[in-house]
Amino acid sequence: MELKLKIWRQKNNTTKGEMVDYKLSGVEADMSFLEMLDLLNNQLIESGKEPVAFDHDCREGICGSCSLHINGVAHGPEKSTTTCQLHMRKFKDGQTIYIEPFRAKAFPIIKDLIVDRSSFDRIQQAGGYVSINTSGNTQDGNSIPIPKGDADQAFNAAACIGCGACVAACKNASAMLFTSAKVSQYALLPQGQVERANRAKNMLKQMDKEGFGSCTNTGACEAQCPKDISIENIARLNREFLFSK
Ligand code: SF4
Ligand code: FES
Repeated sequence: MELKLKIWRQKNNTTKGEMVDYKLSGVEADMSFLEMLDLLNNQLIESGKEPVAFDHDCREGICGSCSLHINGVAHGPEKSTTTCQLHMRKFKDGQTIYIEPFRAKAFPIIKDLIVDRSSFDRIQQAGGYVSINTSGNTQDGNSIPIPKGDADQAFNAAACIGCGACVAACKNASAMLFTSAKVSQYALLPQGQVERANRAKNMLKQMDKEGFGSCTNTGACEAQCPKDISIENIARLNREFLFSK
C-alpha cells in the first residue's frame, strides 16, 4: 500500500505546530497503525530527518498511551479499538490519513503527537484509591461476597485505560467519562466505601482545576472510547456527587 500522510509536527509546547505531508510506500495490510509509523520513522531517520514523536508502550490495548486522532476520530475508524490495535487493512491503498495529537487545554502538547496526560494522574490521586488495612490481619478480598451484577459493573468501569479519547472526542474537552469510570469502579464495591463520601467531590474538584470542560451529555466520549465505558457511569458519578459530604 502507498499512503499520503498528513501529520501534526510541533517542536514543543511553546512553538507553533503545522501539518506536514509525507508519502509512505511499502505499508502492509497486517501492520498495526504504530508499525506503519515505525516504518515512516525508519525512512525519516535513514534520510537524516527528525522522526515523528508518538507515544506508545504496551501495544496491546491496555496502557492507554497510544492516543492519536486519526482522520478526526480518537483512535481511528475501528470501534472499541486502540490505535495500537488498529491495523492498516482498515485503510485503502492511496488513502490520505490525517494524524493529530489529542487536543485539549488540559493535555498540553509535549512534542508532535505526544501530549501530557498527567492531569489524569492528578484526578486519580485526588480520590481514586482505597484504604487498605496493612496491619498484618488484612481480610482476604474473596471473603466479602459481592453481587454478580455489581462486580460486573465495577469490572466494566475498571476497564478504563486512561487514554484520554473521551476528552479528545468531547466538544467541551470534558473528562467526565474517565472520572466517572474511576469513581464507579470503587462506588460499587465494599472495599471502596471508606473514602466514598468525599471521592466524587474531590476528583471533580481536581478535574475542574485541571481545565477540563463540563459535560453536556453529547455522548461522543462513549462513542469513541476504545473500552466501551458507558455514560451510565457519568450518571452514577453525578449521584455520588450529590451524596458527597
Ligand atoms: S473512559 Fe474510555 S476513552 Fe476515556 S480514558 Fe477511559 S478508556 Fe479512554
Ligand atoms: S500502546 Fe498501550 S494501549 Fe496502545
